[in-house]
Amino acid sequence: MRHLQPIGPDIESFEEVLDLLDSDRLETTEGGSVLNTNMVMSLDGAFSADGVSAGLSSEADHQLFLANRMLADVILVGAATVREERYRRPQVHPAAAAIRERRGQDPVPRLVITSASLNLGHDSPLLSGDGPPPVLAHPANADTSSAPVGVELLRLSGEKLDMEELVGELTAQGAQRITCEGGPSLLGQLAASSLIDEYLLTLSPVLLGGTDVGLLGGTSVGREEYALHRVLRRADHLMCSFRRR
Ligand SMILES: NC(=O)c1ccc[n+]([C@@H]2O[C@H](COP(=O)([O-])OP(=O)(O)OC[C@H]3O[C@@H](n4cnc5c(N)ncnc54)[C@H](OP(=O)(O)O)[C@@H]3O)[C@@H](O)[C@H]2O)c1
Repeated sequence: MRHLQPIGPDIESFEEVLDLLDSDRLETTEGGSVLNTNMVMSLDGAFSADGVSAGLSSEADHQLFLANRMLADVILVGAATVREERYRRPQVHPAAAAIRERRGQDPVPRLVITSASLNLGHDSPLLSGDGPPPVLAHPANADTSSAPVGVELLRLSGEKLDMEELVGELTAQGAQRITCEGGPSLLGQLAASSLIDEYLLTLSPVLLGGTDVGLLGGTSVGREEYALHRVLRRADHLMCSFRRR
């Protein structure tokens, strides 16, 4: 892929993508955390093609997606995305493992799923495989007797998760780098609480139409201003980073 802004060398390998994201990372304050999000959309703002985002992505976009999550302490995702996209436990490339070790991070990111139903979907691939089990972050009134065996539960207050409480709790548990992988319903709530420090957005060169449109799920948010930080291009996909002003 080609570096358009700032002008930089071409990026050929996955290791170079990791190095770029590591060297260009957002800094955290002492005891604080930063949160970014990584989304792909069509030219008309659609967030899924036939129910999943794969039809919008590209190999380069997927490499950025993987590199971003491999450098995070926590991958935060909504349960509907986990069910639709058949989420698996996170894996870490050896080059990312080396960066994590150097930075004093746990060997693999924690996967934290927001859910009131505690339903990961039928026969979820998350319930087996290597690595730590997923964490289900749920409101206080959720029926935990229906939770899948083997998941870790994170009980928060209230009848609906409050994003400031959730991010505050994850930070208090040691997460400095949180990435949210959507979907729009979860992202809208994070945006409404002004919690998105960096927005990684890939623009996919297709028109899809339909009603799966809008990366904040139609949530009303206050005006949030971002500055264009980086643009990468591979073929007809643009991969941008916007950072909070
Ligand atoms: N284009 C992209 O980059 C991208 C990225 C991610 C996802 N997607 C697409 O987006 C779609 C799914 O997104 P979505 O917006 O429908 O759903 P979502 O945000 O992935 O998940 C929503 C679910 O998260 C849980 N949840 C969210 N907020 C909560 C709160 N405050 N308290 C308690 N639980 C809460 C609930 O789970 P329960 O139902 O279990 O209670 C809710 O149904 C899929 O089609 C997926 O492919 C696209």
